[in-house]
Amino acid sequence: MAAGFQASRPFVPPFPPRSEKPRGSLSMILTLRRNPLEIWGKADFERPLAIGRSILGLRAAAHDPAAVRRVFLDNAPNYRKDELQLRILSPGLGSGLLTAEGESWRLQRRSLAPLFSPRQVAEFAPAMQRVAEATVERLEHRRDGAVTDVGELTSRTALEVLEQTLFSQGLGREPSEFQRAVTSYFDSFGRLDPLDLIGAPSFLPRLGRLRGRPALEFFNEAVDAIVESRKAQLDRGGEAPRDLLTLLLAAKDPETGLGMPEADIRANIVTFIMAGHETTANGLTWTLYLLSQSPEWRERAEAEADEAFDPLHPASLERCEVLRGVFEEALRLYPPAATLTRLAIADDEILKVRIPAGTVVAISPYVLHRRRGLWDNPDAFDPGRFIGERRERIDRFAYIPFGAGPRVCIGMAFAIQEAIIILANLLRSFRFELVEGHPVMPRQRVTLRPRAGMKMHAKKRRSSKIST
Ligand code: HEM
Repeated sequence: MAAGFQASRPFVPPFPPRSEKPRGSLSMILTLRRNPLEIWGKADFERPLAIGRSILGLRAAAHDPAAVRRVFLDNAPNYRKDELQLRILSPGLGSGLLTAEGESWRLQRRSLAPLFSPRQVAEFAPAMQRVAEATVERLEHRRDGAVTDVGELTSRTALEVLEQTLFSQGLGREPSEFQRAVTSYFDSFGRLDPLDLIGAPSFLPRLGRLRGRPALEFFNEAVDAIVESRKAQLDRGGEAPRDLLTLLLAAKDPETGLGMPEADIRANIVTFIMAGHETTANGLTWTLYLLSQSPEWRERAEAEADEAFDPLHPASLERCEVLRGVFEEALRLYPPAATLTRLAIADDEILKVRIPAGTVVAISPYVLHRRRGLWDNPDAFDPGRFIGERRERIDRFAYIPFGAGPRVCIGMAFAIQEAIIILANLLRSFRFELVEGHPVMPRQRVTLRPRAGMKMHAKKRRSSKIST
């Protein structure tokens, strides 16, 4: 630990109660609807693997690095995205990269990979810096110490980053409209419906989802506007910018030579808007909260933002090991994608236990990241575990906020770079303090959001006048 920093007792941030006993069917349905995070009982945080039949069918819960490796990497072709997950994601995300399978997924992944190469991501740094500076400037115009919903602040900032990078002609709508639509989608389609849980046929209407229809209409109209605006630009003889839409339009199947179906192009626009901002914003929100509760780490993060981070030289990001550490620790404790699930196509064996075909294997980063025996003081906020040689001791398959294997998050490097730039800019100018008495508890609605939002005072530290 650097000199001058006094180690204090680590802060243990809030998490939902963990039941001692297995739940009955009714309790399971109610819990999944209220907050799927609460489904994990005490035993789940202690054991590597469990398999059993419940109202959800045959399910295994795998929370051990070797099991994670088996499902996501070594035998990945045997595991596909399961029906329940697709029922939540597909109405909005269609057959985009997150939900596609087989050849369609391969073509999409290959076509979009160039946008996420290390070189290309590094080239996005100045745009991310400009957006972060604009956020700071907006905050500076407010009364010192004004109450800010940090979830809203970070999600608007992350949307603006997308507008300046992947969607170079912008999103054509106000960020607040996207924020409202995403929240409404998560609160309707993202809430597990009892009919889905018992496997009722899809023609039976799910009432909760009707509320999400306007959000779907909004996404459709937004995509129309984005595609139309690009077509108009190309018709005028304009040059195609190097961005997501250009790559989607240029994608060709190597065997047939055919372009990507229009439905997949549209699906990927929504996929990248949703997957590309909500998760990063979530991680940033939890980071600012955790720092507000840990004076020692807040001071270290502020010192690094002041001294090590150079907004004019994005390469200085590599020096920001504290900022990276606090963000990674926030993703450990509150992984935005809290549960990943896969369906076993054929029989398999995991940790010497037979996994019959048709089993849904749930791997929850939330549980894995807090597994007894894998982590020291697993529920405590300790960014030091991601710094220096302690970081090297972490098993690659024990820490999976971005997933693992061929379907690992395509935006991982993008998200980490973006998060460090935004954090550095915010912490140089502001100290975020939780509004007294504001209740904080994670709730899973597709992503892991704070149940009552995150109301914080943004108190000015000093004016940052450095500009790119
Ligand atoms: C902190 C931020 C982020 C987190 C925690 C996160 C998490 C994840 C996880 C866990 C997966 C794997 C899902 C699975 O295996 O079922 C995933 C996939 C994906 N993510 Fe992210 N993500 C983040 C940021 C981003 C960003 C910034 C983008 C785009 C700009 C993005 C786009 C995607 C896409 C398109 C996939 C699907 C990849 C595939 O299946 O080939 N994500 N993400």
